[in-house]
Amino acid sequence: MRRARLAVLVSGRGTNLQAILDATRDPDYPAEVVVVVSDRPDAYALERARRVGVPAHVVLWSKDPEESGRRLAQVLEAHGAEWVCLAGFLRILDPRFVERYRGRILNIHPSLLPAFGGKGMYGERVHQAVLASGARESGCTVHFVTAEVDAGPVVAQARVPVLPGDTVETLAARVAEQEHRLYPEAIRRVVTGQVRFDDLVAEQRR
Ligand code: GAR
Repeated sequence: MRRARLAVLVSGRGTNLQAILDATRDPDYPAEVVVVVSDRPDAYALERARRVGVPAHVVLWSKDPEESGRRLAQVLEAHGAEWVCLAGFLRILDPRFVERYRGRILNIHPSLLPAFGGKGMYGERVHQAVLASGARESGCTVHFVTAEVDAGPVVAQARVPVLPGDTVETLAARVAEQEHRLYPEAIRRVVTGQVRFDDLVAEQRR
């Protein structure tokens, strides 16, 4: 079996990266991680990659988004990456980078998009907003990345209840558990062609 070559982009602790790395230990899993890239040198996720011998790179973000995107693409190309998985990566990708990897970039977001998404909505802020809204349900979404933040076609979602007495921490932990299951499964569906970007875009337009 030929395995799809994934780049995983991270900024933080990398528990989703870990879930993907764990999934790739199964020889029947249809993808492998060929490179991990962080915009932050101190991201613990880099350590997780190094531990299992996956090349880990830092690409510092400059004020010029196009130039940052070009440097990122150079690293991905040097490792022959075919797919890009954002796993807690907090930079907004330059539209030219998104176009270059059109239909081959995935992101995971800790809410049921389109609810609680968009610029500035990441990590704890999302759970804070969910709790403040009084919503009875939350979850996570894996979607294709397009130029518009958090608005690309949805590949998969998982739901969790919001329980009385929940704090940001308890809700985040319940959502994270689902993320770690959902992301490797969504990657499997996309790299095997079960879910296709162009089909989802056509559906969105209907
Ligand atoms: C995850 O919950 C992910 O959904 C979220 O950041 C966390 C990263 O955790 N991403 C966003 O909020 C993107 N808007 P991790 O570093 O442990 O995988």
